[in-house]
Amino acid sequence: MPSTPSPTDRPRPPRTAAVIPAAGRGVRLGPGAPKALRVLGGTPMLIHAIRAMAASRAVSLVVVVAPPDGAPEVKHLLDEHALPEHTDYLVVPGGETRQESVRLGLEALPEDVAVVLVHDAARPLVPVDTVDAVASAVRDGAPAVVPALPLADTVKEVEPAGTPGEPEPVLATPVRARLRAVQTPQGFDRDTLVRAHAEVAVDGEGATDDAGMVERLGAPVVVVPGHEEAFKVTRPLDLVLAEAVLARRRANDGF
Ligand code: C5P
Repeated sequence: MPSTPSPTDRPRPPRTAAVIPAAGRGVRLGPGAPKALRVLGGTPMLIHAIRAMAASRAVSLVVVVAPPDGAPEVKHLLDEHALPEHTDYLVVPGGETRQESVRLGLEALPEDVAVVLVHDAARPLVPVDTVDAVASAVRDGAPAVVPALPLADTVKEVEPAGTPGEPEPVLATPVRARLRAVQTPQGFDRDTLVRAHAEVAVDGEGATDDAGMVERLGAPVVVVPGHEEAFKVTRPLDLVLAEAVLARRRANDGF
């Protein structure tokens, strides 16, 4: 009679992991600590971003990509803050560009991870519903999924001026209704994203968007609705907006 497998030798279902590139210096935010370590509502932005990923029942592992020399500091930060216990956490040192940091995060993934969400530490307030929607679209078979919003502004393509402040000739005005501003987490079938990072060479500053690399492979990429609270904290005014969103959440939780 065949023996019933014990819980230890039964194959485990494929897991979903979140990779959080957090190795940027955040120069546009002004002088101070690396952007991911700036504080929002008394808590570092990176901790907000980690909690946002771990809040999703789909995510069982969070890989944080720390500044190249900052992994011990980030590990210490994780120990200091309460994080959901159903999730595992790993910290790895990052690289010179975002693309390199994401690749280093992918290399740290255990074998049983089949779905990867890549989420910027600079988007600390993404709601869990957006994370869940991206993860489930990948689990349902899409190789690459991007949350995105329609644009409020009309966009012009220009010939960038050699000198800052010089007038720039307009080349084109894309139809606004066909444009979307993309956010994170972007979700991927792991093999597709690993192949994109192995095969798509990007010069200079590297890719700012993983889905763009998958597009260059020729694989399909789809967009799902993003959320206005998933905005990226880039400039000083974004910090003011982020504090306001946190204050509104706290007020709503009080009722
Ligand atoms: O600079 P930007 O806002 O586009 O960075 C997006 C994300 O990529 C941030 O979370 C930043 O910490 C991360 N990053 C990184 N490694 C780099 C540069 C940026 O992990 N070398």
